[in-house]
Amino acid sequence: MDYSTKDAVECGSASIVNRLPEIGLRKAVSEIIDGLLACPKRISCKYFYDTEGSKLFTEITRLPEYYPARTEKEILRKLPLIHLIGSSDIDITELGSGDHAKITIILDRLSSEQLSHIRYLPVDISHSALETSIRALAERFPGLSVQGIAADYYHQMHLIPGERKKLFCFLGSTIGNLDRDEAMNFIRNIGDTMLPGDGFLIGFDRVKTAALLEIAYNDRQGLTARFNKNILCVVNRLIKSDFDPEDFEHRAFYNREQRRIEMHLEAQRAVHVNCPSTAKPLDLQKGETIHTENSHKFDVKDIHAVGEHAGLFLDRIFSDKNEWFSLAYYKKTS
Ligand code: AVJ
Repeated sequence: MDYSTKDAVECGSASIVNRLPEIGLRKAVSEIIDGLLACPKRISCKYFYDTEGSKLFTEITRLPEYYPARTEKEILRKLPLIHLIGSSDIDITELGSGDHAKITIILDRLSSEQLSHIRYLPVDISHSALETSIRALAERFPGLSVQGIAADYYHQMHLIPGERKKLFCFLGSTIGNLDRDEAMNFIRNIGDTMLPGDGFLIGFDRVKTAALLEIAYNDRQGLTARFNKNILCVVNRLIKSDFDPEDFEHRAFYNREQRRIEMHLEAQRAVHVNCPSTAKPLDLQKGETIHTENSHKFDVKDIHAVGEHAGLFLDRIFSDKNEWFSLAYYKKTS
């Protein structure tokens, strides 16, 4: 998360443009402070993904308990790619590309002839994750053209280059991080920029029993707990505060009314946090929580509603046999 360096970084034949300075550190700092002064306290989940957080999330996706990643990969391995990508020039824009594990499954299944028609545009808030990805992809797929974009895609979608036929990918059920109405509007905004023939592939984690969901966010190794606490280290660096992550306990539970997993950090004692940007230290009482993430879950009705709201035709839903996870493919028709 680099809010200051403006220069494009060359990574072999590919490069990364950093669009985060256009938001600016000042705005990030004031967003974080607003959340910490609010009641209940909150921190936006986009701040999970510094170098350490991105690394921890990759480890989470390999946990047996974290079924969303492994189930989505299973579906990706069987997608009818010719239907989604075709054989002419296309830009594949992936929102929240992370560690490039998901797109690699798709690219691995394409011929070098098909790869030569593709420009891959990974968009991610984590510059470090983009650098690692771009290097690895250039090596693995020499004919592929790659242009990385470090950006907060929710606020910076206007930065995505136009012209060519497009496939947008929003995988991993990252859509679940947005509030339901935010998600609807976000997809509609992208839908509005799409031209007839363009496609949108979205990963949705499905509604299921609370027990199954809660295990996925409370793994036995405690990786999710470390991931959750690491957000305080990111915040410390951005707002120059002195949170001690060990003053907090990881909490993750299913909220049935909202159909979402919520993650919080719960203060284990009275906590005082110094921060130069606030008039007085931030105080938390013992037991007070900071809300760090929502991960909404979806049913088939929700998947249809997204298409209707965004003016996109729902072409097909691909699911695993248990229907734990779905990939929905939407098309712009007119
Ligand atoms: C990357 C947002 C899809 O919500 O499941 C994993 C993040 N948080 N374990 C999710 C996450 C805790 C993940 N997404």
